[in-house]
Amino acid sequence: MEIITTPQQMKDWTAARRAAGHNLALVPTMGYFHEGHLALMRMAAEKAEQVMVSLFVNPIQFAPGEDLARYPRDLARDRGLAEATGVDALFVPGVEAMYPEEPRTRVTVSGLTENLCGASRPGHFDGVCTVVAKLFNIVQPELAVFGRKDFQQLAVIRRMTADLNFNLEIVSHPIVREEDGLAMSSRNKYLTPAERNSAPCLYRALQRAREQVAAGETRAEKLRSSAAQFIDNHDYTAIEYISIVDANTLEDQPTVGPDSLMALAVRVGSTRLIDNAFLLNESW
Ligand code: PAJ
Repeated sequence: MEIITTPQQMKDWTAARRAAGHNLALVPTMGYFHEGHLALMRMAAEKAEQVMVSLFVNPIQFAPGEDLARYPRDLARDRGLAEATGVDALFVPGVEAMYPEEPRTRVTVSGLTENLCGASRPGHFDGVCTVVAKLFNIVQPELAVFGRKDFQQLAVIRRMTADLNFNLEIVSHPIVREEDGLAMSSRNKYLTPAERNSAPCLYRALQRAREQVAAGETRAEKLRSSAAQFIDNHDYTAIEYISIVDANTLEDQPTVGPDSLMALAVRVGSTRLIDNAFLLNESW
């Protein structure tokens, strides 16, 4: 597996692969790999001949006061895991390589970014879209894989790709979970053992909501308040939002329909966790 640290080297590497007739898949990440990241890499390998993984903790998607400085990092471990998963190249640029100057350009997707995580993380999706647009231009992959755990991010990137005519396919991977249902996340490492015990309540709240919908409840307000009550009964939890949205527009819905998604963000101790599930369908 190649380790590549500058955009120019990355462009040269992909140009050589493309000249040899290979198609390329990109998996953008911020590292500290878990099974969720590895599943995305395996999916990329099924769909393309060459798999590139970017590992870059992107400073411009963190607001002041968020966890940029303490975001978990372990390059030696990540390198071993990526290599064992069959990744062809790991792109690990430094901040100076990605942003040699303070970037004056931001990519903003309006509408889809105002609700859910966008409401409490102003500027976050501009930072995500800007770095993902840069990665798309540097690597020029035929496809890129994103996880549905970050459902809003996936929707925003799909829209950016369509709006800006990026010439690639966006592929999504289902949420990969721990045995007790907790969605895997690099941030789970922050949880104390007692907080870790409470953390699966996000997943269980989603499962309960699906059961309530299957039993006939369609009023979003009832489902949201029931989920809130359930989560509040778990120690260390503080709800940021519980929303029922149309998965296509991410707009709040008063009544559950075929494309309804329940999405939530909850602090468990000082760690912010997110999760989501379709309430009726599971296909997307
Ligand atoms: P990161 O949080 O490292 O996630 C990288 C990719 O892994 C994202 O597409 C995310 O949705 C996916 N992922 C994480 N946990 C997952 C899980 N449990 N199941 C399925 N997929 C999962 O998301 C980012 O990095 C950044 O915002 C990035 C897109 C790289 C831009 O900086």
